[in-house]
Amino acid sequence: MTKRILSGMQPTNQLHLGNYLGALRNWVKLQDAGDYETLFCVVDLHAITVPYDAAKLAQSTREIAAAYIAAGVDPHKSILFAQSAVPAHSQLMWLLATMTQIGKLNRMTQFKDKAGKNSEKAGLGLYSYPVLMAADILIYKATHVPVGDDQRQHLELAREIVGTFNHRYGQDYFPEPESVVLEEGARIMSLRDGTQKMSKSAESDMTRINLTDDADTIAKKVRKAKTDPEPLPEIFADLDARPEAKNLVTIYATLTDKTGDEVMAEFAGKTFSEFKPALADVAVNHLAPISARMNELLDDTAQLDAYLKLGAERANAIAEPHIKEVMDLMGFWKA
Ligand code: AMP
Ligand code: TRP
Repeated sequence: MTKRILSGMQPTNQLHLGNYLGALRNWVKLQDAGDYETLFCVVDLHAITVPYDAAKLAQSTREIAAAYIAAGVDPHKSILFAQSAVPAHSQLMWLLATMTQIGKLNRMTQFKDKAGKNSEKAGLGLYSYPVLMAADILIYKATHVPVGDDQRQHLELAREIVGTFNHRYGQDYFPEPESVVLEEGARIMSLRDGTQKMSKSAESDMTRINLTDDADTIAKKVRKAKTDPEPLPEIFADLDARPEAKNLVTIYATLTDKTGDEVMAEFAGKTFSEFKPALADVAVNHLAPISARMNELLDDTAQLDAYLKLGAERANAIAEPHIKEVMDLMGFWKA
């Protein structure tokens, strides 16, 4: 069977360094390794499960697609598309919803977090979000899914839905999608609190480096990042009790493709007033070409839309025969 990867991100807010180092950069490595067919979508149908601005949705989708491409997703090597441009995602979701137990959805921690105390008022879309995610994966019979820890529970649900479908409809139709273990050290923390993930929902923009930040902003955010007065140790593991310091070293190491100990060999005994300018340089050098390419792509909407259209055609070409097969297996009338 074809080894096929599918992943996606929501078009909500801007992407930050955590999204890049924790997800996007790994997608590009998987694409370039050539062991898998790779599909990357902008999950716009997921983005409308919380209040959103309809006037901005299409442009937000373009922005995320531009970020994928600027980070190295090649719209010819990979299939790059907007989820809503492939109707079979929604069609399959309904079918899978009939074989998903409510008890399982009740256990989803992301729903609990997002719905908050007022879960009676949360929409059915937010509740059934994991079923749509299962459909995203299964409509392509994807075998591998690169996701972070927060999405493991959803992927497990997708695997359980596969079990139910295959059992009920008597075939090994869907493969059980496996998670792709992402590189270590790629969990990036807030610049202001080393115990919190860098996140697009954090109130202060100073907690994160956005992919679109200019050089001065990046340098300023690094300069103002929380640290401690101690010098850097010789061994990376000695930073375990210093989360903010550890995070900055991790960012440096990940951006330069070095291990934590290699970075320590360079900076042991130095203080953060020496380390921070070096980190700012590395971050600016790495991110400047990405934000420049993003802006270029966003200035040429016609080209960007052409890439998304090409991706949607290729994605539909895989998804449409699958939805027909599923409906056949489930016994629907057809002409
Ligand atoms: P989100 O921003 O939560 O929609 O996540 C989109 C993707 O980026 C997911 O694959 C996450 O695992 C990844 N991601 C988000 N924040 C971070 C972070 N601080 N460090 C590493 N990966 C992250
Ligand atoms: N739920 C994922 C997130 O919040 C995004 C997503 C939707 C996804 N469908 C997917 C990720 C399918 C991987 C595969 O980050």
